[in-house]
Amino acid sequence: MAMDASLDRRFPCAADIERAALRRMPKFIRDYVFCGMGLGGGVRRNREALDAVRLMPRYLADADNIAFDTELFGQHYDAPFGVAPVGMGGLAWPRAAESLASAASRHNVPFAAATFTMASLESLRDHAQSCGWFQFYRPNIPEIEEDLLNRARTAGYDVLIVTVDVPSPMRRDHDIRNGFSVPPRFDLRTAFEIAACPAWAMAMAGSGFPVFENLVRYVPAGLGRDAAMAFLSDLVIGHITPEILSDLRARWSGKLVVKGILDPDEAVRCRDLGADGIIISNHGGRQLEAAPCASEMLPAIRAAVGTDFPLIADGGVRTGLDICRMLALGADFVLMGRPFYYGVAAMGEKGADHIMALFKEELRCVMGQLGCATLPDLRDRLIG
Ligand SMILES: Cc1cc2nc3c(=O)[nH]c(=O)nc-3n(C[C@H](O)[C@H](O)[C@H](O)COP(=O)(O)O)c2cc1C
Repeated sequence: MAMDASLDRRFPCAADIERAALRRMPKFIRDYVFCGMGLGGGVRRNREALDAVRLMPRYLADADNIAFDTELFGQHYDAPFGVAPVGMGGLAWPRAAESLASAASRHNVPFAAATFTMASLESLRDHAQSCGWFQFYRPNIPEIEEDLLNRARTAGYDVLIVTVDVPSPMRRDHDIRNGFSVPPRFDLRTAFEIAACPAWAMAMAGSGFPVFENLVRYVPAGLGRDAAMAFLSDLVIGHITPEILSDLRARWSGKLVVKGILDPDEAVRCRDLGADGIIISNHGGRQLEAAPCASEMLPAIRAAVGTDFPLIADGGVRTGLDICRMLALGADFVLMGRPFYYGVAAMGEKGADHIMALFKEELRCVMGQLGCATLPDLRDRLIG
């Protein structure tokens, strides 16, 4: 899909889109989406580590016909990037997940629906079509676990992402300070923050404040807002042991991908347990603040798992150049979380198409500069 020229002039890069998006969201939502854990060290280092990756251009190499379409998990995609699972993404902008799922299908790139999505996994599969992946936080109540897996299977998802980096409850200072909840508590402070963002308020008023559409059916009747939120987060926080992974592997006949791996030995363990791939990720700096970045761990993980095991990486990727950096470091595929949701928050539904077209265009430009006609050519452009 071609880029919209007027949107391109207004928003020529993801940094501009991010600035516009953050201005349009009330502070308690902005903090939830933007901030990382603790002092924000994980978010900061995700960026710094990517900035430090340098690539060698080869101007005499033939890159007149650039192709970056690729195969992953038996499916052909138009570009080596996709939309990471973002829980409660519908708070950034109403129906953000639905807009991104539809755009992903038009652009033929993957869209990962989160367990904690504000839309049902069934409706997101309808929007994303065969580009839909489902991210699975494993419920610790067996009947709910079984039901969620069955729903994902019946909806037609093939790729199941099992997120393992939420083994214990986390304290997100900003959310605690803001009294963050769904639906929000309408005290003087949130009312003031919402009033300062009239476009967001109008859009929410038009569509109704989102609820946990995907999970609300599991909440015991009669629970109030805070108790329901506590029930849902307790439901999915828990240690995913190798035994649990093996069990999920045996029960899920589609592709199974483990998300949140950073240690090369654990990457090998996942491969040996039968995973079809892993997502190397520090959860966008939102879990352990001191965790390393995907870009730092990629070379060691690639060396440990061998050349054929699919590696997906995320964290801090904001440009086509960053996508090339991750691929040069050893990834087969790249995910981004915040930038896509910022796209919709900045521009509404058309922002989903714009940001996808933008990343494709940037990718084409950078590959041309590097003298890379195909994605595998990127592998020998890493300096150092
Ligand atoms: C607001 C927010 C919510 C997220 N929710 C989830 C989630 O529910 N499940 C999950 O596996 N990862 C979740 N992530 C992590 C993303 O899947 C991804 O790893 C991360 O956003 C990548 O970093 P980036 O935002 O810098 O691209 C979330 C990230 C953000 C920003």
